[in-house]
Amino acid sequence: MTEIKQSSNVMVELIKVGKTYPPNVEALAEISLSVSKGEMLFLTGRSGAGKTTLLRLLSRIEHPDKGLVEIDGKDLGKLSRANIQQLRRRIGVAFQDFKLLPQRTVARNIALAMEVAYQKKSFIRKQIHELLQRLALSDKLHTKAADLSRGEQQRVAIARALANNPDLILADEPTGNLDGETTERVMELFDDQLQRGTTILIATHDPAIYADTDHRVLELKDGHIQSSDTENHRQPAEEEL
Ligand SMILES: Nc1ncnc2c1ncn2[C@@H]1O[C@H](COP(=O)(O)OP(=O)(O)O)[C@@H](O)[C@H]1O
Ligand SMILES: [Mg+2]
Repeated sequence: MTEIKQSSNVMVELIKVGKTYPPNVEALAEISLSVSKGEMLFLTGRSGAGKTTLLRLLSRIEHPDKGLVEIDGKDLGKLSRANIQQLRRRIGVAFQDFKLLPQRTVARNIALAMEVAYQKKSFIRKQIHELLQRLALSDKLHTKAADLSRGEQQRVAIARALANNPDLILADEPTGNLDGETTERVMELFDDQLQRGTTILIATHDPAIYADTDHRVLELKDGHIQSSDTENHRQPAEEEL
């Protein structure tokens, strides 16, 4: 049977997704959620609500026990290892534990992520300089990741997530260790990326970054979607799609 799939407007689709950690911690219960291409979505909720788990399912670090997880129309449960790797190149992730290589410099940490995506040397250099400048980290270019403060490590993880101009960004508590001014710098970078059509999911319990947003805010509570602020849901303009 041949099936021709139209390329759709939807970047992320979860249908009745459930995740229980052993022995029986229900982190997510029957979550259904659709995120359009070019949308920014805030996932909020208290600690333990399931935010990180949802992002981990999307990056295929964890597998759901039930339900369907799709990215750009592809069922993650059915992708081969090679296809998962291909898809991962289109996704920029900044997780809570940063996952930087501690003995490598800031520049190397970002460059490595770009080299595996076959970026040109000149672009790698330009991108690293620009991102570090915008994140007020230019003076840390040659500093080992292990010697950075947590807030600095967090910003390097964000720079690395953005470096390849991904189609989808998954950011887990991206401003958790940052002061107000640096938080603004990070949010400006995300906004610029959004202008380029990137889909961005931000898990946060920091109301400061979504209080005045025009974007959709979705609250998780005990693994359920508690409220979806659809009033604020900004539809992407036709020309952005
Ligand atoms: N690896 C794990 N093993 C067991 N329980 C986990 C694991 N990861 C998360 N949990 C539990 O799942 C629930 C949701 O956690 P998490 O997704 O990290 O929430 P949030 O990011 O909103 O704080 C919590 O009760 C947490 O303790
Ligand atoms: Mg979390």
